[in-house]
Amino acid sequence: MSALNTSLLHPKFGKIVEGVDLRDVREDHLFPEIRQVFDEHSALLFPAQSITDDDHTRLAQMFGPLENREAMAQGRAVEFKVSPVSNEVDGGVSDAEALHTLNLRANMLWHTDSTFLPIPALVNLLTAKVVPEQGGQTELASTRVGWAEMPDNLKEPLKDAVIWHRLSHSRQQVSAELGAMPEMRQWPDRPWRAIWPNPVTGEDALYIASHAFAVEGMGLAQGQTLISEAIAFCTREENVYSHEWQVGDVLIWDERAMLHRGQPWLYEQPRTLMSICCSATKSDGLNSVRIV
Ligand code: OGA
Ligand code: MN
Repeated sequence: MSALNTSLLHPKFGKIVEGVDLRDVREDHLFPEIRQVFDEHSALLFPAQSITDDDHTRLAQMFGPLENREAMAQGRAVEFKVSPVSNEVDGGVSDAEALHTLNLRANMLWHTDSTFLPIPALVNLLTAKVVPEQGGQTELASTRVGWAEMPDNLKEPLKDAVIWHRLSHSRQQVSAELGAMPEMRQWPDRPWRAIWPNPVTGEDALYIASHAFAVEGMGLAQGQTLISEAIAFCTREENVYSHEWQVGDVLIWDERAMLHRGQPWLYEQPRTLMSICCSATKSDGLNSVRIV
């Protein structure tokens, strides 16, 4: 395997990869090296790419099955589409109080994608199409680093814990109305073990999210305090990487070992990122977080 040209993204996690055109990546060309860096460092930034939805989809497919929430919800085949993360609607921006906007605002809570789905995500691959003049950063924090640095009193109640996840729990923190929408309540509560060991490196990471609402066997309030303290510890300022988007950037992170959030921007300005998540599989260690 030839080495990629990488530099540090954050001193404690992630790599910037230069000298690769993502359109050239194939299963047997560059992808094995990319996947290795992904498993070892949890986040990858490919600056100044130029990928279409098709390129994006082809790249994502090398990581695993494309996450298709519509198909999962309806239990039947639904054509896959790349998901826009965008405030653009009909040539303008969505109203600041519209439910669509509030849903984007829920992305500003520290979270992991898809912990509320029957099959959680392995990875999110995001690329920027339209960026605001200011703000709108995407921030990352490693829960592998967070777990390794965590004091024992916080670690102890988490190390063998099972954490329950629910989409409406994160949505209702932004708006009661958003949290009550049927599409936010369509997934049954989902339990996962709190620690997701990476099967390649053997390193543990805390598997937690804004969707986490309870710790098995603990009172609701006590569980929520523990969840909040653990997220706050993992996202201490010195452990956060804040990405200032340039059009074309591709940012990829390991959902098994990363928390992320969006930052606010001048809302009248359009911001459009395109996102694809891939589902985790057995070879990504999925069985180690499953309860049954
Ligand atoms: C996402 C997400 C944050 C952002 O795409 O899953 O949380 O900065 N995005 O838009
Ligand atoms: Mn997200």
